[in-house]
Amino acid sequence: MNFRAASRVRVTAGKLHSMSSAFVIAWALLLLFSPGLAAQRPAVSGPGAASANPLDSPDLEKKVNELLAKMTLQDKIGQLVQYSAGQATGPSSGRTDDRDMIRKGQVGSLFNVTGSRETNALQHIAVENSRLHIPLIFGLDVIHGFRTTFPIPLGLAATWDPEIVEKASRIAAEEASASGVRWTFSPMVDIARDSRWGRISEGAGEDPYLGSVVARAYVRGYQGEHLDSPDSIVACAKHYVGYGAAEGGRDYNTTEISEHTLRQFYLPPFRAAEEAGAGTFMSAFNSLNGIPASANPFTLKQILKKEWGFKGFVVSDWTSVSELMAHGIAIDGATAARKALLAGVDMDMQSNLYHKNMFELVQSSQVREADIDEAVRRILRVKFAMGLFDHPYTDESREATAMLRPESIALAKTAGTRSLVLLRNEPVSGSPLLPLSASFSSIALIGPLADDAGNMIGSWGGLGRGQDAVSLRKALTQRLGDSRVRYAKGTDLLNGSDSDIAAAVRMAQVSDVAILALGENAGEMTGEAAARSWIGLPGRQQELLEKVVATGKPVVLILFSGRPLTLPWAFEHVPAALAAWFPGLEAGHALTDVLFGDTAPTGRLPLSWPRAVGQEPLYYNALNTGRPEADPAHPGEPGEKKFLSRYIDIANSPQFPFGYGLTYTSFSYGATQAVARQISFANLQRAFAENSDTSILSVSTEVKNTGSRAGEALAQLYIRLDGTSIAMPVRMLKGFQRLTLAPGESRKVTFGLDAKTLAFWGADNKFGVEPARLTVWIAPNSSEGQGTTLDISAE
Ligand code: NOJ
Repeated sequence: MNFRAASRVRVTAGKLHSMSSAFVIAWALLLLFSPGLAAQRPAVSGPGAASANPLDSPDLEKKVNELLAKMTLQDKIGQLVQYSAGQATGPSSGRTDDRDMIRKGQVGSLFNVTGSRETNALQHIAVENSRLHIPLIFGLDVIHGFRTTFPIPLGLAATWDPEIVEKASRIAAEEASASGVRWTFSPMVDIARDSRWGRISEGAGEDPYLGSVVARAYVRGYQGEHLDSPDSIVACAKHYVGYGAAEGGRDYNTTEISEHTLRQFYLPPFRAAEEAGAGTFMSAFNSLNGIPASANPFTLKQILKKEWGFKGFVVSDWTSVSELMAHGIAIDGATAARKALLAGVDMDMQSNLYHKNMFELVQSSQVREADIDEAVRRILRVKFAMGLFDHPYTDESREATAMLRPESIALAKTAGTRSLVLLRNEPVSGSPLLPLSASFSSIALIGPLADDAGNMIGSWGGLGRGQDAVSLRKALTQRLGDSRVRYAKGTDLLNGSDSDIAAAVRMAQVSDVAILALGENAGEMTGEAAARSWIGLPGRQQELLEKVVATGKPVVLILFSGRPLTLPWAFEHVPAALAAWFPGLEAGHALTDVLFGDTAPTGRLPLSWPRAVGQEPLYYNALNTGRPEADPAHPGEPGEKKFLSRYIDIANSPQFPFGYGLTYTSFSYGATQAVARQISFANLQRAFAENSDTSILSVSTEVKNTGSRAGEALAQLYIRLDGTSIAMPVRMLKGFQRLTLAPGESRKVTFGLDAKTLAFWGADNKFGVEPARLTVWIAPNSSEGQGTTLDISAE
């Protein structure tokens, strides 16, 4: 039994009262003995899990309605307004200061204010001096930690470990709430297929299944067992929706996504967050099929609020309401405010337009007071569910002890270690270069990121401080002593001199091995507004790398980046390469543990790593096209592959596929076996209609540790459907399981596929099942494995 299976039973056990006990026991046993099922299923949408939503209770509605009945129109509008603390006083805002607004009940939320004393002081004004005593909700971008900084979200996703994501988010919640922050603008669950987009670093990559697993884990961690616990914070699923599909990877750019693609690929992680109980959503900056996401009634009202039944509230992104004017769908602020509110944006972040226009809009009947009521109800619902009315203040004594606890730092190290993806590990003198042999007596540590603690924190460091972070140099010298580690920067990230490069090369020449720490600047080159049109190593780093490799010394390349970097030369000439992303506070310790083999690398890519930027957008779950690159029907002459969907100058395949990652041993995967040769469509349809989680098909394979060390395999379940009403991707991830195997050990891994796993959005934009030909792979990554094919047969 693995941990996930155990916790799955624990999570759902309390909610099973309406089911027959025989079924409960059978279901629990099924989970205990089929760990794959537990990894595959949503944690809160299994049998009997429907009432988990803390925003959905008659008692809550009663409180909300009673308060609403006392509110004037101005009081109501105040609740819809949010500012970054101290930044509401721009030209013509008509504002004086935060305190005055709070006293007048003109603001429902402030963000970017931290510290229990500071937030309590403001909260006292709201609760004691405003007419209706409605508490404020304090928000912040707590993205991958608060004071204890974990790996950037892309790195957390690379762990493929929801348990780590959940624990990290819980720690973030405990720290943030001790500082008075009860609302985070996280998780970012945008599917991103283009590594030019700087914000690819902030999400979980390209896959809806992995994205959903990770989304649920964040929400569970932030919101905890009880949303009204003082150490829980409300999650915010963002950026709703389509933001990650920005054309050309350019931030804030237009997106065009068909309804089918939206539902099949982009919406599932949002849906998962909503099902896990996320109290808030953030509407995105981008336009989606011509309608800005912050004024899009189809996505906000129809899908989120109506189809999904979302009870919480939607906050706009920063000034995305006023940006409706730049988008061109409003020529004045009043129209922008009206369109956003009527589309379903309940709270206006920073635009000041709800405050300025909403009263007049209601007076002139352009907006009904009932529409305002609906938005206010949602905001009050969240405030009540958080327990803010009962305990509006933060216990100031918590703040001193909540931060940087030893166990939090220990988790930061574990998360850092498990986020590292070993991309390459070629033999040097007969054995793989990593883990580094103890016989190397001198190490040349080279590169602009080798002695850089600040960048380890990533682009959304919260209140993380560079001074708390451990650089690679620090950890390496702690471990080996000064005499064995020689350090040379070689070059800055952007600028470098011939003499510095030459000094680094000389140092490599006199050392046994060189470790190069290269990559991007977290703050300037990754994250928001950090799109890059070319995604190689900035500045003179490539030159430095090539010159150090030319010394003939073995080189370990450590890449710190918020995206995959296109380095085909490096991946051919450097024996060992690790994708480290930005590992957080414990970066150096995490890296040295892996470099010296205390821990083996276990991370896997949550996205496809391109060979060249021209391949972007690049994603494994693409459609086959009518002329796929490897099409037996169009073999062409040897060496001639024309008239196929391909580039003439580069392969279609990525440098490293989604799901890929090496470790210090190797595994073989046997052919995938299915227990049946056929699935009855009638049975499948019935199971789907009943929303049954029961396995329809069991598939398995043997995984063997073929190396000489114990190691962790990550068996990934992929499917493909052919013969369907709409073209489906060449592969879709549907589950994964971790297996620890001793050298030579072989184990059978089994997955159960239920009806939902085989369901998809059809040509009619309805979610359902269809007769089809099904291929299933249990594989080490998205491009390997021996699949098996069977029919979902209508007979
Ligand atoms: C803009 C960003 O797009 C969003 O992710 C963030 O939460 C807000 N600013 C608030 O800081």
